[in-house]
Amino acid sequence: MKKIALTLLVASVSLMAADGAALYKKCAACHGAKAEKKALGKSEVIDTWDAAKIEEALNGYKAGTRNVHGMGALMKGQVASYSEADIKAVSAYIAGLK
Ligand code: HEC
Repeated sequence: MKKIALTLLVASVSLMAADGAALYKKCAACHGAKAEKKALGKSEVIDTWDAAKIEEALNGYKAGTRNVHGMGALMKGQVASYSEADIKAVSAYIAGLK
Protein backbone atom coordinates (compact mmCIF):
# COMPACT_ATOMS: atom_id res chain seq x y z
CA MET A 1 0.00 0.00 0.00
CA LYS A 2 2.73 2.38 0.98
CA LYS A 3 4.42 1.86 -2.38
CA ILE A 4 1.19 2.54 -4.29
CA ALA A 5 0.54 5.74 -2.34
CA LEU A 6 4.08 6.91 -3.02
CA THR A 7 3.75 6.16 -6.74
CA LEU A 8 0.51 8.14 -6.91
CA LEU A 9 2.13 11.02 -5.06
CA VAL A 10 5.11 11.07 -7.43
CA ALA A 11 2.79 10.88 -10.44
CA SER A 12 0.64 13.77 -9.29
CA VAL A 13 3.66 15.90 -8.41
CA SER A 14 5.09 15.48 -11.91
CA LEU A 15 1.68 16.28 -13.44
CA MET A 16 1.57 19.50 -11.50
CA ALA A 17 5.10 20.37 -12.53
CA ALA A 18 4.57 19.86 -16.25
CA ASP A 19 1.56 19.88 -18.54
CA GLY A 20 1.84 16.99 -20.99
CA ALA A 21 -0.77 18.34 -23.38
CA ALA A 22 1.01 21.70 -23.64
CA LEU A 23 4.37 19.96 -24.06
CA TYR A 24 2.97 17.77 -26.85
CA LYS A 25 1.67 20.72 -28.94
CA LYS A 26 4.86 21.16 -30.96
CA CYS A 27 5.24 17.39 -31.42
CA ALA A 28 1.82 17.14 -33.08
CA ALA A 29 3.10 18.96 -36.18
CA CYS A 30 5.11 15.86 -37.10
CA HIS A 31 3.62 13.01 -35.05
CA GLY A 32 -0.07 13.99 -35.50
CA ALA A 33 -2.60 15.29 -32.97
CA LYS A 34 -3.17 11.74 -31.71
CA ALA A 35 0.40 10.52 -32.32
CA GLU A 36 -1.06 8.50 -35.19
CA LYS A 37 1.44 9.49 -37.89
CA LYS A 38 4.88 8.43 -39.00
CA ALA A 39 6.72 11.70 -38.31
CA LEU A 40 8.19 13.00 -41.58
CA GLY A 41 7.39 9.56 -42.98
CA LYS A 42 10.29 8.15 -40.92
CA SER A 43 9.41 7.45 -37.30
CA GLU A 44 7.38 4.62 -35.94
CA VAL A 45 3.77 5.39 -35.06
CA ILE A 46 3.95 5.93 -31.30
CA ASP A 47 0.27 5.98 -30.32
CA THR A 48 0.45 2.33 -29.23
CA TRP A 49 3.64 2.80 -27.17
CA ASP A 50 3.43 2.81 -23.38
CA ALA A 51 4.80 5.70 -21.32
CA ALA A 52 7.96 3.86 -20.26
CA LYS A 53 8.93 3.09 -23.87
CA ILE A 54 8.31 6.68 -24.98
CA GLU A 55 10.24 8.03 -22.01
CA GLU A 56 13.19 5.76 -22.77
CA ALA A 57 13.23 6.90 -26.41
CA LEU A 58 13.04 10.59 -25.49
CA ASN A 59 15.82 10.25 -22.92
CA GLY A 60 17.93 8.56 -25.58
CA TYR A 61 17.37 11.41 -28.01
CA LYS A 62 18.11 13.99 -25.33
CA ALA A 63 21.37 12.19 -24.47
CA GLY A 64 22.22 11.95 -28.18
CA THR A 65 22.47 8.15 -28.03
CA ARG A 66 19.31 7.27 -29.99
CA ASN A 67 19.10 7.47 -33.77
CA VAL A 68 16.83 4.86 -35.26
CA HIS A 69 15.89 6.30 -38.63
CA GLY A 70 18.78 8.73 -39.22
CA MET A 71 16.84 11.61 -37.67
CA GLY A 72 17.98 11.37 -34.06
CA ALA A 73 19.59 14.80 -34.16
CA LEU A 74 16.27 16.34 -35.14
CA MET A 75 14.53 14.67 -32.19
CA LYS A 76 17.37 15.74 -29.89
CA GLY A 77 16.53 19.33 -30.78
CA GLN A 78 12.87 18.69 -29.91
CA VAL A 79 13.52 17.47 -26.37
CA ALA A 80 16.82 19.18 -25.49
CA SER A 81 15.09 21.78 -23.35
CA TYR A 82 12.70 19.30 -21.68
CA SER A 83 13.38 18.48 -18.04
CA GLU A 84 13.03 14.96 -16.67
CA ALA A 85 9.56 15.93 -15.39
CA ASP A 86 8.63 17.33 -18.82
CA ILE A 87 9.69 14.08 -20.51
CA LYS A 88 7.66 12.03 -18.02
CA ALA A 89 4.60 14.26 -18.50
CA VAL A 90 4.67 14.28 -22.29
CA SER A 91 5.27 10.50 -22.38
CA ALA A 92 2.28 9.88 -20.11
CA TYR A 93 0.19 12.21 -22.26
CA ILE A 94 1.07 10.38 -25.50
CA ALA A 95 0.46 6.97 -23.90
CA GLY A 96 -2.99 8.20 -22.85
CA LEU A 97 -3.99 9.31 -26.35
CA LYS A 98 -6.60 7.15 -28.03
C1 HEC B 1 10.05 18.07 -37.09
C2 HEC B 1 9.29 16.84 -36.90
C3 HEC B 1 9.24 16.24 -35.48
C4 HEC B 1 8.84 16.87 -34.33
C5 HEC B 1 8.35 18.31 -34.15
C6 HEC B 1 8.93 15.86 -33.29
N1 HEC B 1 9.36 14.67 -33.79
FE1 HEC B 1 9.55 12.90 -32.74
N2 HEC B 1 10.40 12.06 -34.38
C7 HEC B 1 10.58 12.67 -35.61
C8 HEC B 1 11.40 11.81 -36.44
C9 HEC B 1 11.83 12.09 -37.88
C10 HEC B 1 11.72 10.68 -35.65
C11 HEC B 1 12.66 9.51 -35.99
C12 HEC B 1 14.02 9.82 -35.30
C13 HEC B 1 15.11 8.76 -35.48
O1 HEC B 1 15.73 8.71 -36.54
O2 HEC B 1 15.36 8.00 -34.51
C14 HEC B 1 11.04 10.85 -34.38
C15 HEC B 1 11.02 9.91 -33.36
C16 HEC B 1 10.30 10.01 -32.20
C17 HEC B 1 10.10 8.95 -31.24
C18 HEC B 1 10.63 7.53 -31.36
C19 HEC B 1 9.92 6.80 -32.48
C20 HEC B 1 10.79 5.84 -33.25
O3 HEC B 1 10.53 5.66 -34.46
O4 HEC B 1 11.72 5.25 -32.70
C21 HEC B 1 9.35 9.47 -30.22
C22 HEC B 1 8.87 8.75 -28.96
C23 HEC B 1 9.09 10.85 -30.56
N3 HEC B 1 9.67 11.15 -31.77
C24 HEC B 1 8.38 11.74 -29.78
C25 HEC B 1 8.32 13.12 -30.02
C26 HEC B 1 7.87 14.09 -29.05
C27 HEC B 1 7.37 13.77 -27.65
C28 HEC B 1 7.97 15.31 -29.65
C29 HEC B 1 7.70 16.68 -29.05
C30 HEC B 1 8.51 17.02 -27.87
C31 HEC B 1 8.47 15.10 -31.01
N4 HEC B 1 8.68 13.75 -31.17
C32 HEC B 1 8.61 16.09 -31.95
C33 HEC B 1 10.05 13.89 -36.00
C34 HEC B 1 9.59 14.86 -35.13
